[in-house]
This record gives sequence, structure tokens and C-alpha cells, in this order.
Amino acid sequence: MASDKKDNNNDILPFVDLTHQHEEIGDEILRCIHNVIKSGKFILDENVAAFESEAAEYLEVEFAVGVASGTDALQLALIALDVGEGDEVITTPFSFIATAEVIRHVGAKPVFVDIDARTFNLSAAHVEAVITEKTAAIMPTHIFGQPSDISELSTICNRHSIKLIEDCCQSFGAVFNGKKVGSFGDAGGFSFYPSKNLGALGDGGLVVTKHKEVADKICMLRNHGSTSPNQYELLGFNSRLDEIQAAVLREKLKNIDKYNTRRREIAHQYNQLLVNLPIVIPYEDPRGTHIFNQYTILSENRDDIANTLKSQNIESAIHYPIPLHKQPVINKDYPDLVLPVAEDVTKRCISLPIYPELREEFIQTISTAISTMFEY
Ligand SMILES: Cc1ncc(COP(=O)(O)O)c(C=O)c1O
Repeated sequence: MASDKKDNNNDILPFVDLTHQHEEIGDEILRCIHNVIKSGKFILDENVAAFESEAAEYLEVEFAVGVASGTDALQLALIALDVGEGDEVITTPFSFIATAEVIRHVGAKPVFVDIDARTFNLSAAHVEAVITEKTAAIMPTHIFGQPSDISELSTICNRHSIKLIEDCCQSFGAVFNGKKVGSFGDAGGFSFYPSKNLGALGDGGLVVTKHKEVADKICMLRNHGSTSPNQYELLGFNSRLDEIQAAVLREKLKNIDKYNTRRREIAHQYNQLLVNLPIVIPYEDPRGTHIFNQYTILSENRDDIANTLKSQNIESAIHYPIPLHKQPVINKDYPDLVLPVAEDVTKRCISLPIYPELREEFIQTISTAISTMFEY
């Protein structure tokens, strides 16, 4: 049995601890890995196909294609939707670097729009003002597992005949207006990086789409652009989800609602324990279901909080300390761009440990450490 981290004061309470989840379903995981090894089939075989259809059913989308990572899912979605050189893609400055990186990789220009101060998601209210002749797509991130205002963004995209690509890398199973995220756009990209709410035992990703031709193109792109053996019609990539990861993901997909429900319970426990402190607890848009891939609060004292937690051997993380338009690799193209809300949030945000197996007493320990800090 994996020992519980932090049974003693000197033990570290990690930001994410995957050992318990893997212990809980350890037999199933070992069995499915063993079956793949016994089959001798490791690339694009029955587990990838089955995972794609099970994920499509869960996400209520017509097509799902497994790829090597969330980054690749977004990049291949852009390529399959013909977004490229000379195009502009409206996106959020408050996300993981991959969101902007893939736009640049396909030769397009990211156009950053400030975020909503409550949800930290791309502010739909500011999008139309930056649409130009060159705008090919909008790519919002459902940040931390909280759906963006995706119905409104979808309406804007339809009005201007531009594509909608959802960065769902942190939001498997999140819901907006009764529909799972990923099902609104022309395409959605998911990540199965191990610490995600649906995590593989390595890298993995998924593109979902309502368009058959986009799904077909991504199937080709992930496999060197091939239509059949030795026939290459597109300039492709090696970006396949592998059979072992797909088999593991099939096991974990069975539990995703349980995992997401538990994340929400933990978030609500934190909310209660942190109430009445000079902290902004996460806002939840009542039209959606936030699945709390991260539990991120705002505080003027975020460095003190991080240091206090660290002094008690509790890990925390800053998601994200620098908005994308200020990252060196991006900033040279936007030296004067000011996005006040995103810039403010990056100075005050701090994420606390959250994962389905986080023990009650640790939620209490973490919250007490923070509230005690504010007493002095
Ligand atoms: C918002 C967002 N977009 C894209 C990615 C990229 O996913 P991956 O790490 O699977 O390439 C991530 C993962 O960290 C993410 O959080």
C-alpha cells in the first residue's frame, strides 16, 4: 500500500499525489497493460479505437481522435481547420503556454483579449472589437476546469463565420448550459498529462469534433499524413496516442464522474474553510459545472501564503505567474500590450493541492495554515 504522504510533520504534502489513485485501480491498470503486452499491438489498435468511441460518447461529440498530447491536439485541430500563415487567432493571455505556442507554430498570430475578472476565462464581451479580416478562429481555454462563456463565443463565431477551437486541456467533463465542453466548437483539444483530471501514465491527448472531414484529416495528420500504408497525402506528424495509454485511459474514464465530483467537494470544503479571509475564493459560473482541475485563489499575500505553506512542508503552485503576452517568446511581438485583468490575476493567484484522493485532514491542515497566517 502506498503510504500517505505527510503522516509526520516532516513529510511533504505534495501538490499532486497520483499514487493513491493508481493504487485504488492498480489491479485493473496492471491487467489492461498486461493485455496490451500480450496482444503485441502497441500502435493504433483496438484500445485507441475503443477509447475514442467511449470518450466521444462521454463527451457527447460525434468524433474523437487520440493523439500524443494536448499540445498536439490543439495544433492538429488548427491545421485540420486550415488555420495558418497570415491568420489571426483570438485567444486568452491566461493559460498554459501551449495555447499560444500552437497558434504560432501553425504560422498564425495570437490576438490576446483580456480575461473576465471572476472566471479568469477569455472575456467574450471584448472579443468582437478585435475581429478583423484576418481572424480565422477563436481559441478559448476553459481555465482550471471552469467553462468559458462558450455559448456566447460560439454565437460570435457563427456571426463572423470563424472557427471555434476549445482548449479543454484542463476540463474533461466540465459542462456549460447542459453540454460538455468540447462539444461547442469546430474542434476541442484535451490533455491526458498525468496530473490532469483524466490523466494517463505519460503523455496523451484527444481532439474532438463535430465534422467528419476534420476527424479524418486529424487521423491522417497524426500518422504522417497517410491514408493507407505507403500513401502520404498530407504533411503529417508522428502524434499517435499509444495503445497502453489508451487502455489505461479506458479504465480511468469509468471513474471520471466520481473523480470530478470529489474535486468539486474538496473545492467547496476549501471555500468554507477559507471564508472571511482576505482571499478571493473561486467563482463558479452558475451556467456551468467547474471540475476544479485546479483550485486557485487570489490574495494580495500570495507569496506569504506560499511561504507559510512551504514552511509546513505543503506544496502549492502559481498558475500562472506571467501572462502569455509577457512571456519572452511572445512579448517581443507585443511590447506595449497591456491586459490589466490578466496582469493583476497573475500577481495574486495561487493554487492549492486538489486531487480526488486528498484526505479531509489535509484540506483542514492546509486551510488552517492559511487562516492562522492571517491572524498575525
Ligand atoms: C490549458 C492547457 N493547454 C494545453 C496544454 C498542453 O497539454 P499537454 O501537456 O498534454 O501537451 C495544457 C497542459 O498542461 C493546458 O493546461
